[in-house]
Amino acid sequence: MKSSNASWVCLLLLCFAAMGDAEYMKYKDPKQPINTRIKDLIGRMTLAEKIGQMTQIEREVASADVMKKYFIGSILSGGGSVPAPQAPPSIWVNMVNEFQKGALSTRLGIPMIYGIDAVHGNNNVYNATLFPHNIGLGATRDPDLVKRIGEATALEVRATGIQYTFAPYIAVCRDPRWGRCYESYSEDHTIVQQMTDIILGLQGEIPVNHTKGVPYVAGKDKVAACAKHFVGDGGTHNGINENNTIIDEHGLLSIHMPPYYDSIIKGVATIMVSYSSLNGVKMHANHALVTGYLKSKLHFRGFVISDWLGIDSITSPPGANYTYSVQAGINAGIDMVMVPYNYTDYIDDLTSLVSKGIVNMSRIDDAVRRILRVKFTMGLFENPLADLSFADQLGKKEHRELAREAVRKSLVLLKNGNSPNQQFLPLPKKARRILVAGSHASNLGYQCGGWSIQWMGGSGDITTGTTILDAIKSTVADSTPVIYSENPDDSFMNHNDFSFAIVVVGEPPYSETVGDSTNLTILDSGPDTIRTVCSAVKCAVVVVSGRPVVIEPYVPLMEALVAAWLPGTEGQGVADVLFGDYGFTGKLPRTWFKSVDQLPMNVGDPHYDPLYPFGFGLTINSSLPGFSGADNVGDSRQRLIYVSLCSLLSLVLINDLGIGVFQHPAALLF
Ligand code: BGC
Ligand code: BGC
Repeated sequence: MKSSNASWVCLLLLCFAAMGDAEYMKYKDPKQPINTRIKDLIGRMTLAEKIGQMTQIEREVASADVMKKYFIGSILSGGGSVPAPQAPPSIWVNMVNEFQKGALSTRLGIPMIYGIDAVHGNNNVYNATLFPHNIGLGATRDPDLVKRIGEATALEVRATGIQYTFAPYIAVCRDPRWGRCYESYSEDHTIVQQMTDIILGLQGEIPVNHTKGVPYVAGKDKVAACAKHFVGDGGTHNGINENNTIIDEHGLLSIHMPPYYDSIIKGVATIMVSYSSLNGVKMHANHALVTGYLKSKLHFRGFVISDWLGIDSITSPPGANYTYSVQAGINAGIDMVMVPYNYTDYIDDLTSLVSKGIVNMSRIDDAVRRILRVKFTMGLFENPLADLSFADQLGKKEHRELAREAVRKSLVLLKNGNSPNQQFLPLPKKARRILVAGSHASNLGYQCGGWSIQWMGGSGDITTGTTILDAIKSTVADSTPVIYSENPDDSFMNHNDFSFAIVVVGEPPYSETVGDSTNLTILDSGPDTIRTVCSAVKCAVVVVSGRPVVIEPYVPLMEALVAAWLPGTEGQGVADVLFGDYGFTGKLPRTWFKSVDQLPMNVGDPHYDPLYPFGFGLTINSSLPGFSGADNVGDSRQRLIYVSLCSLLSLVLINDLGIGVFQHPAALLF
């Protein structure tokens, strides 16, 4: 009796001890330092669990069961990959949570991280605020604005339950023939460097004394960012996407690398490798740069992710020897592979490469340590599941106002009147009849560009927003009729008596390789529309494009020319400035060429002979009398006095500084 009592007590004690063990796992304790948590967790993981962490799959092939069975560490939405067309936040959040529950139901319960390309707002999501693409933001020269856009984007990404964005794009585009040029802030690396402040908005302001290279993500209302694509993607030969960047070490380090220095200092959590090659070596297999430079020299401590099928194209043709691709990619230093579909091939190959000793366990542990570091840092273990508390952030008024501000600041005024004292803009809000024409005036999809709802973008009402036509209509006086005709003919022009016209033309939407172009022409009817309209009535031309396009032949026909880039959903910003409620402040983030045979041509090149140079942008001071945009048809006396004053001053300055014909008198004055 006694002895059996004693054994019961022993058993109970053992049970308690075991329970105590089960209850206290260091890695689950947020009070433990992150490195302690990482070490504890890695010590418990099997090879399968580790390789699972290194795997990112597309949502189309993901399910709670797959997450659980393969210990998958990450899921992504590719361009346009949504749970349902026009899905509201609740559907997104449920989807992400379902996958997450699968991940949490594994033995160690390591949460997965979900990534999406929120490259100009949360752009795959219906109703999200779409900000101008990066080229337009580069024109603003306003890092604080871009940081605020980062904050808003983080909230709109969290609205869908997602914790990770593949942004910012920090390529320095050196050739506008490249289809991704609009994703680049500028041809000038210093502008790209300044714009990496978006990371502080996406991830949160980095604390002082934060160790350099260690990722930082502030919490539930922030997202992990991804600087991409490492490195030299903007310098490929002739601007061919995913091609070869031929450059010496000095060129690489002084043009394409600097934005990475800034991103790392700002605590960027992840970095994506480029499809492109560097002097013939595929970046996905470039050990010297990914491991030697990025990890060892720059002390980057976040994780390195491959691009979509990126390791596949280490061989030519892509996928010819997938085992070799896995070996070369992982050994180069890639920590997480965006597989994104055939994950069992990847997992099987990596498992056998490790068992054969071709990939070392220390390489696997390095990768997993980095992935876990990001997950711990951002509080994913404490808050793995999303709720609807951010749902009302999606497309909210304040974010649309911010986007509208960004649009206003991104506009670059390239021509205004045929001489400095005959300005055409701002336009009067009161007029007899205004014509709005062109392929891009009433097309929300076109003004958003690629990476908008669909990977390639779309045409027409792809989401909610304000077209440039709608914006013009709501800006002019009630008594002013606005007539819209996409591509009017001569007889239409002859039978209508317009006060003036606004012609909005540009490029159709595109992404990546589809956007590569050797002729850089605007959409077909555009030149015709400009010719027909501008020869019949005074006109302002607004170009909606991802880059400088062929425009020189038509410039003499028009009174004013405005580069609007790819403004996104808030077209109102265009009308705000055209009608003088705000001034023009944007400056060219790229050189505007005369003809494509000059390309590549960047500021500082010996053969520099642009139509409009890098940094060019006319201004108008909208606060001056006669420039209010209201009621200013015909010259007021004040306007006359102002214009004469300006011309006089500009003459003096032109003579003194040899500034030349580009400067607008108002620019010189203020
Ligand atoms: C995906 C994109 C991806 C592209 C790569 C598309 O099918 O939707 O996200 O960038 O493939 O080629
Ligand atoms: C693009 C990346 C993008 C990825 C996922 C790739 O094709 O190059 O920029 O993040 O697809 O959509």
